[in-house]
Amino acid sequence: MDLHLKGKAALVTASSRGLGKAIAQELAREGCHVMLNGRDSQNLLSAAREIRQLTDSKIATQVGDLTRDEDITALVEKTRSAFGRIDILINNCGGPPGGSFADFDDQQWQSAFELTLLSYIRLIRACLNDLRAAKGRIVNITSSSIRQPIPHLVLSNVFRAGVLGLSKSLADELAPDGVLVNTVAPGRIATDRTHHLDGLKAERLKCSREDVVREACKSIPLGRYGEPNELAQVVAFLVSNVNTYLTGQAIAIDGGLVRAL
Ligand SMILES: NC(=O)c1ccc[n+]([C@@H]2O[C@H](COP(=O)([O-])OP(=O)(O)OC[C@H]3O[C@@H](n4cnc5c(N)ncnc54)[C@H](OP(=O)(O)O)[C@@H]3O)[C@@H](O)[C@H]2O)c1
Repeated sequence: MDLHLKGKAALVTASSRGLGKAIAQELAREGCHVMLNGRDSQNLLSAAREIRQLTDSKIATQVGDLTRDEDITALVEKTRSAFGRIDILINNCGGPPGGSFADFDDQQWQSAFELTLLSYIRLIRACLNDLRAAKGRIVNITSSSIRQPIPHLVLSNVFRAGVLGLSKSLADELAPDGVLVNTVAPGRIATDRTHHLDGLKAERLKCSREDVVREACKSIPLGRYGEPNELAQVVAFLVSNVNTYLTGQAIAIDGGLVRAL
């Protein structure tokens, strides 16, 4: 299917590794110009190099920390100046630290809020005029925790739900301008983050990481972790012009993990 993405300009945040990078790569493969972002310049440049080797699309990079308002402003300005427009915003971020309620003080709650919810709010605000002008697309990356809280991830359980509320509100508010807003909820996709969280769980349970993965796969109907490109392909459809009537939805990409209706 031709997604008609050729020549569109996409800003994909937190895209030097993992899900963000896979989305950036998929959009570039479909012909989008893509702005990549992350805090570590080496990782960022190597992601850009890798994607440039696979596609002819324009790839730009901007180092920046999504918890800093001035970095977000600079990121959006650089995207606008690199491509002359912003058609697509993919809001992604690093995951908040794992832990239970008693583990976190006010400062840690505040940091998680700034990373996982406020950064999305700021990015949407900064891109809003461009997205309205383009009848653009927003996809907010969250987690399966929007449907079912995950043990030992209370910060995600709380703030991802806020992102879902934001997405639903914006789907209403921006529909008259032709901007479609959707949420994507990954279950267990094989990235550095899942590797890290599985390691922490293995320490807690005093078993091996392989045992943790084997146990986790038992609760996934498809019996395995997803690959980042399996999520990226769904995102590419959501932000494409082939998607004309799907907005305000939360799409679980989890191999059937969450049983909620
Ligand atoms: N993978 C899954 O199965 C899964 C499931 C549910 C939810 N999620 C959520 O989806 C998001 C992406 O997950 P992932 O698995 O791709 O994570 P990952 O492998 O840890 O990659 C995170 C990316 O975010 C960047 N990043 C982290 N903090 C940042 C910040 N403050 N400012 C700018 N960039 C930042 C990292 O680059 P730098 O470190 O260089 O900044 C990296 O490019 C996370 O929020 C995660 O919690 C993932």
